[in-house]
Amino acid sequence: MIVVTTPTGQIGGQVVGQLLNQDARLRLICREPTELSHDVRSRVEVEMGMSKAMAQGMTDMARAKSEGLDNAEPRTPDATTPTSFRQWCGNTLQPAILHPS
Ligand SMILES: NC(=O)c1ccc[n+]([C@@H]2O[C@H](COP(=O)([O-])OP(=O)(O)OC[C@H]3O[C@@H](n4cnc5c(N)ncnc54)[C@H](OP(=O)(O)O)[C@@H]3O)[C@@H](O)[C@H]2O)c1
Repeated sequence: MIVVTTPTGQIGGQVVGQLLNQDARLRLICREPTELSHDVRSRVEVEMGMSKAMAQGMTDMARAKSEGLDNAEPRTPDATTPTSFRQWCGNTLQPAILHPS
């Protein structure tokens, strides 16, 4: 078996393309399997994989959720500010970057 990581990238995609023409069993490890074509997915084994930091982040989020650390409050105009992300970037983030204190 040949294992290929990052098969969705330029280089990984070329490697997979070449290996598909060989008589080899392929296992592809990627972050988002749906990024692979249906044809490729039907001819290989696919596993989801991610960096250690990303896996740690996902684990931390799952633990926080199971321990009730998010308040799960639905977003409403009363529960959140009316400021959009774009507005916050323009009003707060941009001045902070251009004129750091
Ligand atoms: N192409 C060249 O001519 C060339 C020349 C010299 C060196 N390189 C180096 O070779 C490497 C690959 O090049 P490329 O052209 O194939 O790059 P690319 O097309 O940008 O593909 C990057 C691949 O890495 C994956 N990836 C990125 N960040 C990741 C992360 N944090 N965890 C897991 N997977 C991650 C991407 O997955 P997603 O699809 O999920 O984002 C994608 O499959 C790069 O480091 C590049 O600098 C490339």
